[in-house]
Amino acid sequence: MKRTDVLLSPDAMARQREFTEKIAAHHRQLDHRPLALVDTFGCQQNVADSQRIMGMLRDMGCEFTDDPMAADIIVLNTCAIRENAEKRVYGALGQLTHAKAANPRQIICLCGCMAQQKTVADKVRASYRHVDLVFGPQALWKFPELLWEVYTRHGRVFSIEDEHGTIAEGMPVVRESAVKAWVSIMYGCNNFCSYCIVPYVRGRERSREAEEILSEVRGLVAEGYKDITLLGQNVNSYGKDLDTPMDFADLLAAIDEIPGDYLIRFMTSHPKDAGAKLFETMARCPHVAKQLHLPVQSGNSRVLKEMNRGYTREGYLEKVALARKLMPDIVLTSDIIIGFPGETEAEAMDTISLVKEVGYDALFTFIYSPRPGTPAAKMPDPATRAEKQVWFDRLLEAQNEISAQRHASYVGKTLRVLVDGESGDSRWPLQSRTDGGRLVHLVGDKSLIGQYVQVKITDSNTWALFGEAE
Ligand code: 5AD
Ligand code: SF4
Repeated sequence: MKRTDVLLSPDAMARQREFTEKIAAHHRQLDHRPLALVDTFGCQQNVADSQRIMGMLRDMGCEFTDDPMAADIIVLNTCAIRENAEKRVYGALGQLTHAKAANPRQIICLCGCMAQQKTVADKVRASYRHVDLVFGPQALWKFPELLWEVYTRHGRVFSIEDEHGTIAEGMPVVRESAVKAWVSIMYGCNNFCSYCIVPYVRGRERSREAEEILSEVRGLVAEGYKDITLLGQNVNSYGKDLDTPMDFADLLAAIDEIPGDYLIRFMTSHPKDAGAKLFETMARCPHVAKQLHLPVQSGNSRVLKEMNRGYTREGYLEKVALARKLMPDIVLTSDIIIGFPGETEAEAMDTISLVKEVGYDALFTFIYSPRPGTPAAKMPDPATRAEKQVWFDRLLEAQNEISAQRHASYVGKTLRVLVDGESGDSRWPLQSRTDGGRLVHLVGDKSLIGQYVQVKITDSNTWALFGEAE
């Protein structure tokens, strides 16, 4: 695909700002300032997308609420990664019938990965008639135009055509924290792991121009943001589609040159594309957090092949060894799927043995969920749900022990943390993160929020560390 077809023109973006203006003018004529509610399901990419939706809504003159009964506009930004995620969205949509019945002029929008699937759109069309607007992640940038269509057409609007995927620069953003920020560096995924719906709903890989990313990060650092996470479905593919060759390690090194007191993190790295150049760059760049989320999914090479992951157990372990050699204190986390179609008990136990061998700081664990339209959904799946649950529980037990041990090894040490907010627990009123991203509950004053402080770790459990500001 040509770069010029991917990058949206300044004119196209200006046209959307005109729609935003028209909606803002319409809102000014209402007898009250419109209230919007944005409810986000799923991953950090969706969190970042919701911040853009909120940016557009703010520019349309909206304020924000958490109360669906009070909202004039509701946006559900949805996730399709597992069936449970979809069920939660349908539950939330069902609940909204009451809000709409009480306020028939309320506008309900469904967007995100679920909305891009035709089967979902058809179901919403037929059975969730209170939904006014449905649009997929590919159409996010034209939300103002679509919302204007809802206002002027007085009918339902569906925009889920399977577009090739674009890059929209200059969208407004509402950041929910003054300390942490998300920066999307690329969109889409080309990997087609056999279980995964993402490539079907988020389109092909598209990288933002490095200069756009650098200028966004420069702006964030100047505004005082201290914890910046670069986002992409597979950040290691960054740059493959750019006219000027640049890979993800080059991008990290260029960002690292920006002066200031901040850390850069990134997610997600695909193990097949992560290697010596990335690890060496991470090790030598002081602004890059020594933290790596490197999803392995399975510890068995046959299952990895069926998953279309592009690496073996041994290959993965070699990469982990290299990362640890270059960064001995690196914090490592991973995603795991238990119960992939055809996985045997012995193969699931291979995953547990890999988890023990690596000794991750934390894991995100899932039981396989068939996604219609993916190759894995058509594979024979003889193991029962009950069997998979037993394997899954064994995995959790193993990881909980490892996490507890790793966390206990911090007790007595003094570390730098960034205080990012309040915890809601009066005994440990503050919440903070170590440079490696581990959660630390803290005794200290609210005035520390947004600052780096030295903390003595006094206690730990499976999920977190506890400490006192020095
Ligand atoms: N079933 C279960 N887990 C899945 N993931 C992706 N697709 C599925 C699925 N069909 C998990 C993977 C991925 C994480 C974001 O979600 O572990 O890394
Ligand atoms: Fe899904 Fe694989 Fe792409 Fe990750 S790399 S989004 S698991 S297809």
